[in-house]
Amino acid sequence: MKVFIDSADLDEIKQAYEWGIADGVTTNPSLMKKAVDKRKKINLKQYIDQILKIAKGTPVSLEVTETSAQGMITQGKKLYKLFNPVANNVYIKIPVNPAFKNADKTHFAGIEAIKALSKVNIPVNCTLIFTPEQALLAAKAGAAFVSPFAGRIDDFIQTNNKMKFNKTNYFPMEGKEKGKTTLNDNGIASGIDLVAQCVDILKNHGYKTEVLAASLRNTRQVREAALVGADISTLPFSVIQDMLKHPKTYEGMKNFTKDIVPDYVKLTK
Ligand code: G3P
Repeated sequence: MKVFIDSADLDEIKQAYEWGIADGVTTNPSLMKKAVDKRKKINLKQYIDQILKIAKGTPVSLEVTETSAQGMITQGKKLYKLFNPVANNVYIKIPVNPAFKNADKTHFAGIEAIKALSKVNIPVNCTLIFTPEQALLAAKAGAAFVSPFAGRIDDFIQTNNKMKFNKTNYFPMEGKEKGKTTLNDNGIASGIDLVAQCVDILKNHGYKTEVLAASLRNTRQVREAALVGADISTLPFSVIQDMLKHPKTYEGMKNFTKDIVPDYVKLTK
C-alpha cells in the first residue's frame, strides 16, 4: 500500500519525504487554509511549487474550489497548466458531487468534470466518496484515484444513530457488532468497510482506478485499510508519527541501552 501525506504543511511534507515513507501528497481547501493561516506571509504560488518539488516523482493532489461543471473543468485545467510544469506530478481533485444540498443543480457536475479532465489526460483524484456506487461511477468516468472518506463515514453512522462521538471514536472494520446489522448504516458497517467495498468492486470489474483511503484518523484504520487492499492511504502527519510508536518498543530500548557492553561501542568509535 502506498502512503500519502494528507497535508499542505511544507514542514510536515518535507519530513515525511526525508523519512522515505511518502509516496504522494493530498491537499484540500481546509488543509491549504491551515497551512496558510500558520504562516504570516506566504507567496502561495511559490509555496505550492515547493511542495511539488519535494514530492517530485509522486502525485500531489490539488483541489478545485469551483462547483459548476464548467467552473471545475476550467479551474482544473488552469491549476494543471500552472503547476504541472513544476515537477510533472499534479493530480486534480474533484468532488464526486459538488452540490450543497439535495435539490442543488450541481449534483452531476463532478462526474462531468472528471470525464472532461480525464479525457485530456489530466489525472483526477475524485474526492468526497461516501458510497461504493459513487466510486464505481467516478471510476467509469475516468478518475485515476477515488477517495473514500473513512473517518467521516464513521461520523455519519454515529450521527445517524444518535450516538455520542468525537474525532477519536471510530468503528472497527466489521462495524460495531460483528455479523449483526443493528445500525442504520446503508449497508456500510464502517469507514473501512466502505474502503473494502470500493476495493472489491473496482478489482472485481477490472478498473485501473486506485482506491485512496482518506479521512483516516488512527493507526488501526491504516492497518485495516492495508488489510482490505486499499491501493493508497493518505494520512495526517500525526498518524504517520503514531504508526512508529509502541510502549514495548520504548521498554525494549531502555533495556537494550542498559545492557550495552562498552567495548562493543568502542569498536565503532
Ligand atoms: O483526506 C481527507 C481528510 O483531510 C479529511 O479528514 O479527519 O477531517 O475527516 P477528516
